[in-house]
Amino acid sequence: MYSSATSLALLACSSIALAASDNTTLPYSTWMATSFLSKSQTMNSHYVASVLHEGIEKAATLHQNTSLLNYVSNAVSAQVLPNGTLLNWNSSFYSVDELRIGNNLLHFYLASNRTETKYAVAASALRSQLDRWPRTPTGGFFHRDPVYRNQMWLDGIYMADTFYATYTHIFEPANTTAWNDIALQFDLVEQHTRNKTSNLLAHGYDESKKAVWADPVTGACPHVWDRAVGWYFMALVEVLQVYPKNLPGYARLRGYLTTLADGVEKAQDESGGWWLVMDEPYPGMKGNYIEASATAMFTYGILKGIRTGLLEERRRPTALKAYDLMLDRFVTREKNGTLSFDGTVVVGSLSSNGSYEYYVNVPIARNDGKGAGPFMFASTELELWQQS
Ligand SMILES: *[C@@H]1O[C@H](CO)[C@@H](O)[C@H](O)[C@H]1NC(C)=O
Ligand SMILES: *[C@@H]1O[C@H](CO)[C@@H](O)[C@H](O)[C@H]1NC(C)=O
Ligand SMILES: *[C@@H]1O[C@H](CO)[C@@H](O)[C@H](O)[C@H]1NC(C)=O
Ligand SMILES: *[C@@H]1O[C@H](CO)[C@@H](O)[C@H](O)[C@H]1NC(C)=O
Ligand SMILES: *[C@@H]1O[C@H](CO)[C@@H](O)[C@H](O)[C@H]1NC(C)=O
Ligand SMILES: *[C@@H]1O[C@H](CO)[C@@H](O)[C@H](O)[C@H]1NC(C)=O
Ligand SMILES: *[C@@H]1O[C@H](CO)[C@@H](O)[C@H](O)[C@H]1NC(C)=O
Ligand SMILES: *[C@@H]1O[C@H](CO)[C@@H](O)[C@H](O)[C@H]1NC(C)=O
Ligand SMILES: *[C@@H]1O[C@H](CO)[C@@H](O)[C@H](O)[C@H]1NC(C)=O
Repeated sequence: MYSSATSLALLACSSIALAASDNTTLPYSTWMATSFLSKSQTMNSHYVASVLHEGIEKAATLHQNTSLLNYVSNAVSAQVLPNGTLLNWNSSFYSVDELRIGNNLLHFYLASNRTETKYAVAASALRSQLDRWPRTPTGGFFHRDPVYRNQMWLDGIYMADTFYATYTHIFEPANTTAWNDIALQFDLVEQHTRNKTSNLLAHGYDESKKAVWADPVTGACPHVWDRAVGWYFMALVEVLQVYPKNLPGYARLRGYLTTLADGVEKAQDESGGWWLVMDEPYPGMKGNYIEASATAMFTYGILKGIRTGLLEERRRPTALKAYDLMLDRFVTREKNGTLSFDGTVVVGSLSSNGSYEYYVNVPIARNDGKGAGPFMFASTELELWQQS
């Protein structure tokens, strides 16, 4: 029923197909984006809305769809008062998830050629919070204070450090202290959670080793949760876009990305997707399943990594196979012609006991922005490649 990634390339080249009125000829990115406008998705400062709206923005920008771009630009703008106050933001609440919206703000700041100064004001308020952020004894940002004190989760690296890096790139490119600090966040997660045999990383670690799930030596939790690795993989790709090549952190981050790409490729199921719980011997085990959001994140990370020269061309088949699986299994066409995105696990939290039973018993949602946003990221990369 759906075109494969490779046959889509042919479709995109055909002016006849583009002229047809049936919206199956819309690119998947803008089709999904437009579909979401009718699914009561609202913008707010929560990271899920931020990621979904970044997906819409990427789709709108690539295809120069003015109406979508106006929608997303207005939605983000409405989060910031004219004087730069970010709505519903609490400057003394330290939770890395709250930083993610900073990326949306910086995107529209640059898109305005730095004329929308309210975005710079709001972003610098978020950035100054990092100077006060509670940290582990070795310098890692707490995932959240006070509930996840001394804990670093891979998800948090995406939420905080893509913003930290993009902000530094725009406003303080020569701030070596900041660049080193950013690399340190990755170093800490690598030291405590990377499995050097599988090349995958556990969901998070507790430096104080007090959490019920913490390994007594490393502090790591026991399992590799797919979406945490997906966020982390995307974080490496995004931070490397802006990280100065002349600093020692650059080579380390590239090494982390390459070895993780090896682990991700090796863990790909023959269907093309990735298991919710990725560590052995759980893939294929009762209760475990191929999960959509991480499949989208790995697809995006590989495609963007290749496009920007960070990853080798030979990895492309992994991403194309995964994209085809998403079209087959997770992208569904509603009767009214809109698309839905299925198969996204609602949450994975280390407030749990961290067990396999915990992860596989979390419900799965339809049209969750944590899956649909990254699906749009992946689609724009695929469509960019097809255009080239
Ligand atoms: C552009 O976006 C609008 C609004 O979402 C949608 O109706 C239209 O089909 C889109 N056009 C293309 C070519 O994607
Ligand atoms: C299309 O159908 C979906 C699923 O029922 C619904 O959420 C959405 O609002 C509908 N969109 C339009 C434009 O009718
Ligand atoms: C920004 O504007 C809002 C609404 O007018 C006001 O409540 C707030 O105090 C202002 N903040 C600053 C820092 O001026
Ligand atoms: C802001 O966050 C702090 C720390 O969690 C909390 O004590 C305070 O009540 C919050 N303030 C508001 C206005 O929600
Ligand atoms: C920003 O600058 C570019 C190049 O000078 C120009 O094409 C674009 O229209 C400008 N955008 C805005 C929003 O001013
Ligand atoms: C550079 O970054 C460090 C670490 O985040 C920060 O403490 C410092 O204020 C920044 N310096 C400048 C000049 O912005
Ligand atoms: C690391 O991965 C290997 C290969 O999957 C596995 O056998 C081993 O148990 C893992 N180690 C830890 C500490 O999870
Ligand atoms: C798809 O086509 C149908 C019928 O022509 C239309 O009602 C619907 O809004 C379209 N959906 C999108 C996302 O463009
Ligand atoms: C861990 O929590 C899950 C529910 O989230 C429960 O099914 C399981 O029995 C718990 N395991 C242990 C060892 O407490």
